[in-house]
Amino acid sequence: MFAYIRSMAEIMYGQPVAEEIERKVQIAVHSLKTSHQVVPRLDVILVGKSPASERYVKRKLDTCQGLGMRAELHTFNHDVTARELRDHVLSLSADPSVHGILVQLPLPRPIEEPADDTTLDKFDIFDAIAAEKDVDGVSRYSIAELYRAQQNRLRFLPATAVAIRRMLAYYHIETEGRKAVVVGRNDITAKPVHHMLGGRMCNATAIWCHRHTRQQDHDAFMREADIIVTSVGSERYKLTGNIVKPGAVVIDVGTRVGADGRLHGDVDFESVAPVASQITPVPKGVGPVTVAALTENVVRAAQFAVGIRKSGYIF
Ligand code: GUN
Repeated sequence: MFAYIRSMAEIMYGQPVAEEIERKVQIAVHSLKTSHQVVPRLDVILVGKSPASERYVKRKLDTCQGLGMRAELHTFNHDVTARELRDHVLSLSADPSVHGILVQLPLPRPIEEPADDTTLDKFDIFDAIAAEKDVDGVSRYSIAELYRAQQNRLRFLPATAVAIRRMLAYYHIETEGRKAVVVGRNDITAKPVHHMLGGRMCNATAIWCHRHTRQQDHDAFMREADIIVTSVGSERYKLTGNIVKPGAVVIDVGTRVGADGRLHGDVDFESVAPVASQITPVPKGVGPVTVAALTENVVRAAQFAVGIRKSGYIF
């Protein structure tokens, strides 16, 4: 009898990648202070009382402050209107002391999905963010360049996309010509990551699965995928090893707090890790890199404000 020994995937921790980004951010913050007398400042809008959002936002504010930046929080009750939020964002856009603006998602349902198209919605709020302050990369000014795959014109790539791009580089993952499957359809992760992977920045063949993808199609795409990025964050979705191609790279961006009070991703680590060649854990995977990538974007915003940075990313 031959014993069949499966090797475990390399676990791609986020911490070394986050530390590399944060080292550069610290140097840039110091230089902005000493050469331009500017302290980069992020303003975050938080609506309602979701414990998960409060936790994410605290982490963002603390990380910015820990790296020597300013971070201000603007809180609103869940019944705030899209118009009020839009007007508040417009006032931050006009304030020269504010460098970066982030509207924490999700917003209350009437703003995310209004009952009719006569009221303002989340996209009107995103578009009120000045182009050079859109550190989340959600406004029409940022999205257009990503859609066009014009890396040299991009002001901001959303933090999760920056994080994945930096993880791919750090862990030496080739994307060109490889089949990449992205699962999920939200504005700040799956959509931009799909465009990034399929665009000139990564040159992968990008396939996009979402809630309307038939299960059999989803599974067939998975069985062929060289690179998988999941960003669903629902207990109804789980990626298991039986449909993952041996040697695939698996990046788990989905996070949700389970009934057990712990953070869970989209990927069943136990069954996928023995099949994949590289895999991110949850927690300790992409999450910390995303926060570091946000701080990088806040520095970019301050550099745009003082005129020492032009649009474009070099990876
Ligand atoms: N909610 C969860 N993650 C994020 C993020 O990166 N940006 C925003 N705006 N909202 C979020």
